Amino acid sequence: MADAAGPKPPLLECRRSDFALPPDLHYLNCAYMGPLPVRAQEAGVAGVRAKAAPTAIEPADFFRDSDEARALFAQIIGARDPERVAIVPSVSYGIATVARNVHCTAGDSIVIAAEQFPSNVYAWRRLAAATGAAMRVVGPRSDSARGESWTEALLDAIDERCAVVALPHVHWTDGTRFDLERIAEKTRAAGAALVIDGTQSIGAMPFDFERIRPDALICAGYKWLLGPYGIGFAWLGERFDDGVPLEETWIGREHSEDFQHLIDYRDTYQPGAARFDVGERSNFILLPMVIESMRLVLDWGADNIQRYCDRLCAGVLEEAATLGFRVEASQWRGAHLYGLRWPPGMDQGILGTALRTRNVFASLRGSALRVSPNMYNDADDVNALLDALRADSQTPGSSGPPSKRADGSPTAPSSNVAAPASSNVAAPPSSNVAAPANGGGERAASSPER
Ligand SMILES: Cc1ncc(COP(=O)(O)O)c(C=O)c1O
Repeated sequence: MADAAGPKPPLLECRRSDFALPPDLHYLNCAYMGPLPVRAQEAGVAGVRAKAAPTAIEPADFFRDSDEARALFAQIIGARDPERVAIVPSVSYGIATVARNVHCTAGDSIVIAAEQFPSNVYAWRRLAAATGAAMRVVGPRSDSARGESWTEALLDAIDERCAVVALPHVHWTDGTRFDLERIAEKTRAAGAALVIDGTQSIGAMPFDFERIRPDALICAGYKWLLGPYGIGFAWLGERFDDGVPLEETWIGREHSEDFQHLIDYRDTYQPGAARFDVGERSNFILLPMVIESMRLVLDWGADNIQRYCDRLCAGVLEEAATLGFRVEASQWRGAHLYGLRWPPGMDQGILGTALRTRNVFASLRGSALRVSPNMYNDADDVNALLDALRADSQTPGSSGPPSKRADGSPTAPSSNVAAPASSNVAAPPSSNVAAPANGGGERAASSPER
């Protein structure tokens, strides 16, 4: 039945066949690293091959893919001006660019959410030290209503002395969601710059660009955009129009398309945010890959991803609550990223081992198990997670080890698990798949050692 917003499109089916995940891997850790879609792998291989005979790479190629990637990212975030998108290698690079170009003096304050990923912290600490501005690091007021109380605390911290507010949309450790619309309104009224790290939400969660109107929105490409490592995007608003980039790239200067006259040095930049692009931004391997990944993400739609994850995990969350795990109310967290806070006294070691032995990949973060599903997950994945969550209550002497299906996979009462629209997954050959690595910006996996 149609609601006020009109009829909802039907739920998408599981999209595991777009990936090369091994069939026995329960990968619930997109917040750590998004698996690369097969079509992005193929684009990367094509990029490598093109470099073998570089005559095929023409001057126009230095611009075409960059512009397409800007356009796709702008579409994903809902911005109308792709020329405002800069290509960056990392969030830390994008934040450093912004920190270099915001106006901040002694007596000002820089407001950030507590325990953010370091890439949205260190540049602000440096700016505060250099200018004499005060850092205001704001945490939640309550552990039971984190999103709401944290938003309130942030709103209280934003006043006329505030020069910058630097936040994510959802917190990287447990998916706690901030009310960016309200925060944006207060930030604007204070004349401060709103800087969003969208890494853990953009691609998987709708972002209302027109209502939030950030000054900067920066996003790594390798998580929810499903791209390769080493490429991301920064949308930069008018405040940065005459900004100074971290590097002075040749391609960021006016008329850089004219390769014959590059030594006619120019004082003016290319229009838009291209001046802020990282050097060698026209990466002939990474750009085609991230373009393919972003097309896929756009094809799915963030709203559909939320609905899919919501339905897939409904049963897990229900039973987790009966086992004593606490989870934030749905409007204050992502459906694609949430923390299961374990009950006092629960043995984390047992949980870690239970996850590992079932080949379930999620992340232990502080006092929560961070679960981050996506369109490639199915009922088997959430059944395996649920089975692991039960392990602490199944220590020897109680109900014993979890039962197994004939094929060796764990079972869960189907009433407890919301099955996805389709679980008939075409399993790719496992030889295509690199073993999960323990690298990158954060430790990940079902236990500290993986
Ligand atoms: C919220 C958030 N921002 C940024 C990053 C990555 O930062 P960078 O691209 O600077 O390595 C991560 C990695 O886990 C993250 O969770």
